[in-house]
Amino acid sequence: MPSLRQRWRHWTGRADAFAPEPGLEAIYRDLFLRELALLGEEDRFFPTGGAANYSLLYLILRIGAEFQPASVLDVGAGQSTLLWAMLQRRGCVGEVLTLENDPEWGARIAGQVGHEVLVTPLRRMRVGGRTMMTYDWTAAQAGRRFDAIVCDGPRGTPRHSRGGILSMLGDLPPDFALVLDDAERDGEQDTIAQVHARLQADKRDYAVGVLRAAKSQAVFATGRFLPATFL
Ligand SMILES: C[S@@+](CC[C@H](N)C(=O)[O-])C[C@H]1O[C@@H](n2cnc3c(N)ncnc32)[C@H](O)[C@@H]1O
Repeated sequence: MPSLRQRWRHWTGRADAFAPEPGLEAIYRDLFLRELALLGEEDRFFPTGGAANYSLLYLILRIGAEFQPASVLDVGAGQSTLLWAMLQRRGCVGEVLTLENDPEWGARIAGQVGHEVLVTPLRRMRVGGRTMMTYDWTAAQAGRRFDAIVCDGPRGTPRHSRGGILSMLGDLPPDFALVLDDAERDGEQDTIAQVHARLQADKRDYAVGVLRAAKSQAVFATGRFLPATFL
């Protein structure tokens, strides 16, 4: 069976639709800083090392400011968490829940935000037909339904990386945006292919877009979030 990379090449005619384009990082930085300034917010972000890069920060800012999700799930604490907290403070988004596995890191980030940072150590679980180390998704759901999900944790694995996110696909609202970071990596592409398969099996009318800069993001969206695939 052709890999997701090969299928994208076939559909789009592009050599590698997921390859990072580091030169675009400065463009997304400018756009992010401009939108931040329009909101009257200071740039206190550190998009360095393993943290969210500028295209991810830009994407979160636009999804928050323009689509105003009612309930956000931020998977993997860090700069993304600080940005969602800022958007919530400004009334752009409703509930925010951050999911984190590292208690120290979770506590450090939780001390800087007003929303809940749920720390659940990784545990061995079976999701999407595979056994993996992942979060306690039942505790994350707890009767909640998220219309914006950004998956940037836990740390990636060579294959089927962050596959635990598949356990959230069974209870998505009709209109949603789902962002998977690090889409250029083989492990994340396994998961992206599984998200496609699941949404198709569920007969969801969805679209997908890719942002490329220092890292790449895949954006799945339905309903009123569909334009988010063109950002
Ligand atoms: C890719 S990072 C998450 C990044 C986050 N979404 C952001 O926007 O910066 C994945 C995981 O790495 C760990 N991590 C990230 N930054 C860290 C740091 N500075 N110190 C310790 N752990 C960190 C956390 O457990 C986090 O959930």
